[in-house]
Amino acid sequence: MKLNITPRAADLQYAIRDIVVAARKYQKRTGEKPLYLNIGDPIAYDWRTPQYMVDAMCKAAQDGWHGYSPSEGEEILRVAAAEKEKRVNGITVDPNRMIVTAGVSEAIQFLTGALIDVGSEFLLPGPSYPPYISYVKFFGGKPIAYRTIEEDDWNPDTEDLRSKITDKTVAILIINPNNPTGSVYNEKILREIVAIAGEYDLPLISDEIYDQLTYDEAQTPMVRIAGDIPVIGFNGVSKVYLAPGWRVGYAYFHDSNGELDQLYDAMIRQARVRICLNATAQIASATALRGEGDYLTETMRRMRKRRDLIHKRLNEIDSISTRLPEAAFYIMPKIDLRGRWKDDTEFVLDVLESTGVVFVPGSGFGIEYGSGHFRSVFLPPPDTIEEAMNRLDGFMGKR
Ligand SMILES: Cc1ncc(COP(=O)(O)O)c(C=O)c1O
Repeated sequence: MKLNITPRAADLQYAIRDIVVAARKYQKRTGEKPLYLNIGDPIAYDWRTPQYMVDAMCKAAQDGWHGYSPSEGEEILRVAAAEKEKRVNGITVDPNRMIVTAGVSEAIQFLTGALIDVGSEFLLPGPSYPPYISYVKFFGGKPIAYRTIEEDDWNPDTEDLRSKITDKTVAILIINPNNPTGSVYNEKILREIVAIAGEYDLPLISDEIYDQLTYDEAQTPMVRIAGDIPVIGFNGVSKVYLAPGWRVGYAYFHDSNGELDQLYDAMIRQARVRICLNATAQIASATALRGEGDYLTETMRRMRKRRDLIHKRLNEIDSISTRLPEAAFYIMPKIDLRGRWKDDTEFVLDVLESTGVVFVPGSGFGIEYGSGHFRSVFLPPPDTIEEAMNRLDGFMGKR
């Protein structure tokens, strides 16, 4: 049978999971389980979803939340999300202009489905969380990376951003706190980005899924400083609430004169086509978001130890250097390839084949600014991090 697969699907990539194919081959060949440091899923390691949330999930199931729900999401969840944004981030968002999505991932799909046409340009941070790059390409657009400066704790280079705006640019994406760099953007720089958006009449997309996972400085929510510049904000329960498998995220729309009405409409139409989100998870997520987040203090205390450990160990290894992440659970070290490897992908595959440790090639987060790096999570327990670093150290010593 002849199947006509579209190039847009055949060429889709997601570096964070693509590397797992190579890891499985390694396991088959050696019989050894790889040490996975590629996926930002706390539950894959020794973190557990807070008990009050697990109880809420059980109760929602017992209470019979097994039907369809509204395409924009259950009202109780949208109200809880708006309350959380007020309590935690000090911003006012309208629960009636919010769409509950299957994780922020689906919000990315709806947003790009609504905004990207053939030839559209979408400004995103370099390096960037890969699905933004993939979906923009999928819909025929061009992801245009603006530089973030490693030496300046990976803050955006606003001059570079400005220089990349053209008449095809449709939006500016900010991921703050950032995946993959762990950076928390400086408020002054964010204000410059707001000013640029105003000057060129562009909406801001602000992915704040790591908002409460900062180590020292709090993150600046975009809506708080945006004034009358339209902002589409993304958040959810995957990271801060340690429940990525629930697949609950939300998008809110902030504007002053209904400038985002059409975008909301174009996204809700897509939401209707997919009917709705899992109802039990929505009800449980409302309880999650209403919680005071007592578990977070302990979570961040343990996470900080792991961050400090991996940061110290990586910087002690020959040819590897890295900044200290200010948030989340990712670190993005630079490798001095010195002709030993063609690029970061070859490096990551060599590390995997030789040591069984799984990282993600930096170029998977955008060729221009991710190359020459790799990304690791520091979610595993300290002894696993030590083991991975011992193996990496031994490997670098032999190369
Ligand atoms: C910046 C960023 N946005 C969105 C997502 C996707 O999250 P979700 O589980 O809500 O789909 C991730 C996941 O790693 C992420 O790092």
